[in-house]
This record gives sequence, structure tokens and C-alpha cells, in this order.
Amino acid sequence: MKSRFTAFCCAALAACSLLACNRLSEIQPGAIWPDTEGRHINAHGGGVLRYGDAWWWFGEHKADSTNKALVGVTCYRSKDLINWKYEGVALAVSEDPDSPITRECVIERPKVIYNEKTGKFVMWFHLEHKGHGYKKAHAAVAVADNVTGPYSFVRCGRVNAGKWPCDWSEADIEAVQAINMNLPIKAKTPEWIEESAKGRFLRRDFEGGQMARDQTVFVDDDGKAYHIFSSEENMTLHIAELSDDYLTHTGRYVRVAPGDNNEAPAIFKKDGTYWMITSGCTGWKPNKARMFSAPHIFGPWTKHDNPCVGPDADLTFQGQSTYILPVPGSEENEFIFMADIWRPKHPIDGRYIWLPITWKDGKPVVQWQDRWKPKT
Ligand code: GAL
Repeated sequence: MKSRFTAFCCAALAACSLLACNRLSEIQPGAIWPDTEGRHINAHGGGVLRYGDAWWWFGEHKADSTNKALVGVTCYRSKDLINWKYEGVALAVSEDPDSPITRECVIERPKVIYNEKTGKFVMWFHLEHKGHGYKKAHAAVAVADNVTGPYSFVRCGRVNAGKWPCDWSEADIEAVQAINMNLPIKAKTPEWIEESAKGRFLRRDFEGGQMARDQTVFVDDDGKAYHIFSSEENMTLHIAELSDDYLTHTGRYVRVAPGDNNEAPAIFKKDGTYWMITSGCTGWKPNKARMFSAPHIFGPWTKHDNPCVGPDADLTFQGQSTYILPVPGSEENEFIFMADIWRPKHPIDGRYIWLPITWKDGKPVVQWQDRWKPKT
């Protein structure tokens, strides 16, 4: 009996030390980030939701050698923002070849928000249909009763069809209607940039709906939610109001930084000011982050310098922004900047850069650190 008890104690001790071994004490930006089972976290281009007594990280499941969605959107849970337990697939790709989210479509930058009024979890993501490259530029939405899902696909499509920006005057509308749409312009030339800033692609897509690629969602203090996305051939960002149930666009939106070619929007609000960090548009290759601020979500938005500081700061430390996570109650790292290091040839090996936002002269700074510990 005694020896059995000793054997049991030894086994329990061994299990505990194994678990303790698996426990991480810090975040190491850019390193392999093992989940509680020891597997590198697979939740790219993601976002984090605070719900109940935990944090929920949703992101793109990436495969070994393709960026196409073979699995869907994954979910992880944590209480300390360092140790993450895999909770499974929140939104699964469909086996139905006719479904817009059929296996081998492209699902990118999923973000989940909780709707207090309906009690539903709402996931927005960028969807490209199987076999269409990046041409569809659809916004897609899925909904669930439980945070971990399963999320049911609701709808996808272009957005805000038949609506001009809500801050436009009659004169703005007349000006965009005066653009000579027959004038051929070569993609990516200075003329293309100028014409896109004027609203050429906005006008082109007016009837069918505006393009929506890199995206995030943001819930303001008053419970109103906004969808922020790269539109107009990735040349101009749109900030669009969502309906009270967060499932559709209301038709009210503004254009931000017309013709400035911003992608990867990540947004937060501090003391009444909205801050947005974005990237330039170089596909999977990293580039220099950009930053904007505004006194109201609908602007006017002012551009600032790159907030990144440290090695490779001009390449966003080799990453691309995806989300800015508010950590209420924490003093030193009230906001965490989240970015992805993409590995297009081996997507599953993509890495995560999480860094605390600090402040200098009233502006956010993202200072590189090899390792750090969030105060939750
Ligand atoms: C990036 C974008 C990613 C993905 C990639 C495809 O610029 O941020 O989410 O769409 O392009 O090339």
C-alpha cells in the first residue's frame, strides 16, 4: 500500500513538473510560441477578445505550404496572455463546394466582438473565394452563441453599395462623378495613385459595393461597432459603422488617407483619442508601419511617424500589424500591439510580435523587447 502511494506521488510530481515546464513566464516576440500542449500557436492575423474571466485569441489557421484555408479560424484561451490553451476550430471551412467558405478559400484577419444586446459573438473576416485569387475582396461575417463557437457563416460580399461617404458634400459627389472613367490608367503609377485618392475606384464600385480586404473591428465605449478595412484596390481605408446587432453595415462610412495605400489596420482608443497603426502594401513582405490619430472615429485622421523603435523598426520588426489589445486595469501595458511575421512558403511557421505600447510626447511608441511580461 505504502509503495503504491509513493508511486502515485512520484507520478503526480512528474506530471506537475512537466506542466510547470510547459508554463511560460514571458512573451518572446518573434519566437516559437508554444500553446499549453507545446505546439506553436496557429492563430495568425488574429485578434483577442476579453470575455468572462479569460482572453480569447482568434486567428487564421495556417497550413504547412499553402495560405489557403484548409481548416478555418482557431481559438485559444488564456488567463495571463502568455499561456494559451487550444480551444479548437471556432469557424470551420465548409465541405460544401458551393459554400463561399469552402476548403481552399482564403480566410484572413478574423476578429471577434461580443454584442451585449444580442448576447452573440460576431466574427468578421476577409474572405476570398476559392479559385479567385484576391479579386472578390469580400467582407464576411459569422455568428455564435458561445465564445468558442461553432460560428455559423452568415454572409459575405462587398459593402456599402450605393452609398457615398457620410462626410461627403454635394460638391464631393459631383467631383467624383466628373472623373473620366474611360481614361485608361496604368496600375501603380503616380496617376493611378492620384486618381484613386480622388475616388475613382470608389465610384467604380459604388453600385456593386466597396472592396474589403485587410480588416479589423472596433467596439467603441457607447457599444457601437465599426469595421475598418482596406478598400478601393487597397489604396484607401474605410471606417464603416455596423448595425446594432453588428451583423451588417449601416451605410455610414468615411474614407481615411485616400490614395495612401494602407493595409493591416489596428485601432485603439485612449482618453478620447483614436489611434490607428497600419502598414504599407507589400504583400507578405514587411514594410514600415504608419500611424494615425483622430478625435472621432470618423475623423479627421492625422498621420504621424512610424511608432516602432528598435532593430528593424523600419520594417515593423519584420512583421505586419494585426490588432491592438486593450488590457484594462494594467498600468504599464494598457495596450498591446500585435503583429504577424509571415512565412509565405511555410505559413504555419509564421510568428507573432506582441509588444506593449508606451508613450512619448503624447504619442504611442512600440519599442522592441526580446522578452517581457504583460501585467494582467
Ligand atoms: C498582405 C495582407 C495579408 C495577406 C497578404 C497576401 O499585405 O496584409 O493579410 O492578404 O497580403 O499577399
